[in-house]
Amino acid sequence: MDGKPKPVDEILIVKNLKKSFEKKGFFHKKETIRAVDNVSFSVIKGQTFVLAGESGSGKTTIARLILGAIEPDSGEIIFDGISLDGRLQSINKVRRNCQMIYQDPYSAIDPRMKVVDIVREPLDIHGIGRPSERQSLVLDALRDVSLDPDEIASKYPHMLSGGQRQRVAIARAITTKPKMIIADEPVSMLDVSIRVGVLELMSKLQQRHGISFLYITHDLSTARYVGHVIAILYRGSIVEMGEINNVIKRPLHPYTQALINSIPDPYPGNHQGEKKFRINRTEESGSDKGCRFRTRCPYATEKCLEEPELEKVEEGRFVACFFRWN
Ligand SMILES: Nc1ncnc2c1ncn2[C@@H]1O[C@H](COP(=O)(O)OP(=O)(O)OP(=O)(O)O)[C@@H](O)[C@H]1O
Ligand code: SF4
Ligand SMILES: [Mg+2]
Repeated sequence: MDGKPKPVDEILIVKNLKKSFEKKGFFHKKETIRAVDNVSFSVIKGQTFVLAGESGSGKTTIARLILGAIEPDSGEIIFDGISLDGRLQSINKVRRNCQMIYQDPYSAIDPRMKVVDIVREPLDIHGIGRPSERQSLVLDALRDVSLDPDEIASKYPHMLSGGQRQRVAIARAITTKPKMIIADEPVSMLDVSIRVGVLELMSKLQQRHGISFLYITHDLSTARYVGHVIAILYRGSIVEMGEINNVIKRPLHPYTQALINSIPDPYPGNHQGEKKFRINRTEESGSDKGCRFRTRCPYATEKCLEEPELEKVEEGRFVACFFRWN
């Protein structure tokens, strides 16, 4: 030990995060939705962490909790060494250093503003750079996302293609030089032919500026383009987490295996997927007791009436299942 403080490798640490919502069910009976249930993970600086799961699994709720848009019921979020305690100071620090890209770029940009003003707005909000410098920061950001400022700066969003609009949203996200970007399904509304270009852009920005990404998706085939580590969410809980290539090539949780099987030929060399099963779709609803995948899992036994914890099964790999399927 040389006595020097150890550098912190994580840009984001999420510990035992919980968030429930009340919903009115049949006959006005109140139902509690455990949208995020004891979720823990961390994002290493300069890497992309993928949160993957089907619709309603809690992905966006986790993003909103990180950005301080909603408060957790319990748990802790530490961003760049600072614990988010609900106070404005910590929320402002995250909002300046952690930007969000949405599925629909229109939700982040005002259709009545010109591109130059859209990209400049976060600089004005956070008071970054002298007003005279902001113009050149905007032009740099547009060039960074491979848009020609001369061609695009004075256009309105409706004059752009879907891919250009998402690039403008990315330029807006990077003008403040954030340490992390949360990208919530950033390519799912784009034409398949331009998805890869946007994903490659994200990787380039990561290499150029060291930005960490939290990439949220229901689509594992896009995740493997950008991800380093992946967590598979099922009904608010992480069921498997590990290095992305390992998880995709050798999924250990029955739900992950079913998800991989549903990707059209992700790795032609991965024959392991062929002997695995597909999800039992006749029983869509999950169970609140025991393993929440129990009602869809063909391997379920009496033991699965207990809730499995997310446990380390090998270096860097965590699985919440009583059985090992490797
Ligand atoms: N404000 C809210 N009030 C009530 N329920 C909510 C609220 N926000 C989210 N939920 C519920 O919490 C669960 C998780 O929702 P969330 O939007 O996080 O899922 P998601 O994984 O992002 O889904 P999608 O892929 O469709 O975007 C869902 O059952 C949703 O209906
Ligand atoms: S714990 Fe049981 S029900 Fe849950 S995934 Fe594993 S085998 Fe299936
Ligand atoms: Mg969502």
